[in-house]
Amino acid sequence: MILDGKTCSEQRLKILRDVITESGFRPQLATVIVGDDPASKMYVRMKHRACERVGIGSIGIDLPGNATTGDVVAAVRRLNEDPTVDGILVQLPLPPQVDAKKVIAAVSPDKDVDGFHPCNLGLLFAGTPRFAPCTPLGVMTLLGANRIPVAGKHAVVLGRSIDVGRPMAALLLSADATVTICHSRTPGLAGIARQADILVSSVGKAMFVTADMVKPGAVVIDVGINDLDGKLVGDVDFAAVSGIASAITPVPGGVGPMTIATLMENTFKAAQERSCDRAP
Ligand code: GUN
Repeated sequence: MILDGKTCSEQRLKILRDVITESGFRPQLATVIVGDDPASKMYVRMKHRACERVGIGSIGIDLPGNATTGDVVAAVRRLNEDPTVDGILVQLPLPPQVDAKKVIAAVSPDKDVDGFHPCNLGLLFAGTPRFAPCTPLGVMTLLGANRIPVAGKHAVVLGRSIDVGRPMAALLLSADATVTICHSRTPGLAGIARQADILVSSVGKAMFVTADMVKPGAVVIDVGINDLDGKLVGDVDFAAVSGIASAITPVPGGVGPMTIATLMENTFKAAQERSCDRAP
């Protein structure tokens, strides 16, 4: 089975558009981009386009590539204070002179639709999530939409980043999976991957997950986005692994669209919660 994230995301966006229309809310997302990395600019454009489709307003703050940590933190603080802004997304990666941890910590946890603030990651790990990061939450939605059971399964997550690997493990754990996180210092990674009922790869290396690393019948989720000789590919050797897995996400058209749909859902949630906070 191909886990079609594009179709699932389209369905979620249509439902969200109706929910937003009926709610009478006009949520607003602010994006912050530093420099002019073409891939980052393209991702931010896609996010603004999705906002337009579902009835979320969006504003974009573009800072020059030589901006300092102080400049980016100041821009974030202005958005924290702006009552018309419900969600703030600082596009990553940031240039090397900018301390990403300080910038992420400057985002108000109430507007942290990316779910990267330590408060929100802490709540997620405590089992009481508020905003969960969009990519792993989108993966959970895709598994659910395809009725793939998670409880009691052995899930192996390759990668330990704060945007994917760690929150992915927390969400799978909350869904009652037995979770193993593997990373660049894990000995025998291939053997551990082969034990997975659900294998999630967010390593960022083309052709990293080969057929010998996948148990027959496993569910394979490919979060990688890599350039292989000018072609967009994931971490998984799709041609070989799709013959072994029971279900697999394609790249493109798998996890990527789910990330964007989830960002829209998180932004609406932020708007709803902020409006509750303002109620007498
Ligand atoms: N860069 C790559 N993925 C993401 C994401 O989900 N959020 C942000 N802010 N930046 C990213």
